[in-house]
Amino acid sequence: MKVVVVGSKGMLAQDLIPMIAKEHETLSFDKDQVDITDKKSVFDLVGRIEPDLVINCAAYNQVDQAETNREAAFRVNAYGVQQLALACQEFGSALCHFSTDYVFDGKSTLPYQPYDQPNPISVYGASKRAGEVFVQSILNRYYLIRTSSLYGKGGNNFVYTILRLAKENEVLRVVQDQMMSPTWTVNLAQGVVKLISSGNFGVYHLTDRTDPPATAPPATARHEQAGRHEQAGGGISWFEFAKEILKMKGIPNEVDPTTSQEFIRPARRPAYSVLDTTLFTLCSGYEPMPWQESLKRFIDMI
Ligand SMILES: NC(=O)c1ccc[n+]([C@@H]2O[C@H](COP(=O)([O-])OP(=O)(O)OC[C@H]3O[C@@H](n4cnc5c(N)ncnc54)[C@H](OP(=O)(O)O)[C@@H]3O)[C@@H](O)[C@H]2O)c1
Repeated sequence: MKVVVVGSKGMLAQDLIPMIAKEHETLSFDKDQVDITDKKSVFDLVGRIEPDLVINCAAYNQVDQAETNREAAFRVNAYGVQQLALACQEFGSALCHFSTDYVFDGKSTLPYQPYDQPNPISVYGASKRAGEVFVQSILNRYYLIRTSSLYGKGGNNFVYTILRLAKENEVLRVVQDQMMSPTWTVNLAQGVVKLISSGNFGVYHLTDRTDPPATAPPATARHEQAGRHEQAGGGISWFEFAKEILKMKGIPNEVDPTTSQEFIRPARRPAYSVLDTTLFTLCSGYEPMPWQESLKRFIDMI
């Protein structure tokens, strides 16, 4: 296939592009080369190359800043995505686009399915949802992949933040009442490579695996501590994730649990945003990796 990637300097893009390039003719463009909010630039690009597939790694991901910079978030995550979708429609290209667990409100107690009703509770989530709606209403041939809590070598992320904070503070305080599935960009990229070769267009969820162990008691202590009902589908809290990062790095700092009410941030986050990846595996053949194994590989690499 001839593949065009936009947003090529992003964290996911940096792991994805070399993997795609092993199997497909790949042309990638950063923001300075192609700004997805510039309609002419987008149409010139897609019209000139006429790729089989456009992969959109461009996004406005500043979740807290979006609350006060609504226009910037919607310009990239909604209008920019609309232009890509329209150009793909015009020149017969398929589109692979990424979205987020933050399109959900977090009120579920079971992992979200791709067909569950989104209900964003932040400006960022709303802007990403608007992008999804454009993709789905303009195109028939798209892969819309929701993912969550990315970390990778090529961008700012929670793992780097925790390691930095551990150098500056003896005790770290991390929220325990937000359950999610962290995802290593290398794994996401591997899944994407498989999915785009399948031709199975649709809406998907892909994260690393956070299933409860098969031997877990029905209601685990951590979920009780987090003040939640049993989560049959798993998920971990940011507190648990932070503890594991430090443990794997052999850093002795303590991590204390806190709550979102104590740790106020401009944007609200869903309390539970675990995504069910069953359909992704069924349609691509890619099996998500357990989150501890992913984290170990990442930590060994950095
Ligand atoms: N990171 C996460 O935890 C997370 C979680 C769920 C879903 N996602 C989604 O996964 C995808 C990949 O995320 P990521 O973390 O790899 O993103 P990222 O590191 O923030 O990269 C996004 C890239 O897009 C570029 N960009 C911004 N505006 C642009 C524009 N108008 N035209 C072209 N490029 C533009 C950015 O450039 P500048 O930096 O120069 O602005 C940056 O290089 C995104 O769709 C994101 O919403 C991410």
